[in-house]
Amino acid sequence: MKKIILGISSSISAYKTCDLSRLFVKDGYSVYCVLTENATHLVTPLTLQTLTGNPVYTTSFAAQWKEMGHIELKQDAALYLVAPATANIIGKFANGIADDLVSTTYLSVECPVMMAPAMNPNMWSHVAVQENVKRLKKRGVHFVEPESGLVACGDEGSGRLASIDEIYRMAKDVVEG
Ligand SMILES: Cc1cc2nc3c(=O)[nH]c(=O)nc-3n(C[C@H](O)[C@H](O)[C@H](O)COP(=O)(O)O)c2cc1C
Repeated sequence: MKKIILGISSSISAYKTCDLSRLFVKDGYSVYCVLTENATHLVTPLTLQTLTGNPVYTTSFAAQWKEMGHIELKQDAALYLVAPATANIIGKFANGIADDLVSTTYLSVECPVMMAPAMNPNMWSHVAVQENVKRLKKRGVHFVEPESGLVACGDEGSGRLASIDEIYRMAKDVVEG
């Protein structure tokens, strides 16, 4: 059973990741969710734990770990997929910042990494975000490009999370080669 680490950061689109986790589970993958602390305001660890049948992690500093969290998680992982990826988490990955479990896990994994950004169109087109994305792509991080359309805040443009089906398809391509 292939293992997917599913990182979730605090975009309003985080609720869609519940469906994404179900697709992986239905297809026989074991899914371990890692949430930023901010993401726990938008989607509950209990929901994801129920859907995936696995513990959900939000911090490195918990008694549940046998080893250090980021080390335990990375073992045998086939993919580290961050969906949705906020501007903030993209910035942390690009700059080697490791101040929470989602960003620390990025530095520790040996498997392929994929990000599905989701944010307001102004944020997505900001030069700081685009430079960070470019940097990560250069390093081999896979990106599921966001879609154009109406975003949750009412603005229109590019930045909406790609469809769950598209993220799933691209993730599977990477995992299955
Ligand atoms: C309701 C709500 C929705 C948000 N949606 C997004 C989003 O779609 N994309 C994004 O980059 N930031 C979004 N933010 C801002 C992030 O939550 C904020 O930058 C946060 O510091 C990111 O933390 P994290 O990356 O650790 O989850 C949203 C904030 C709130 C309150």
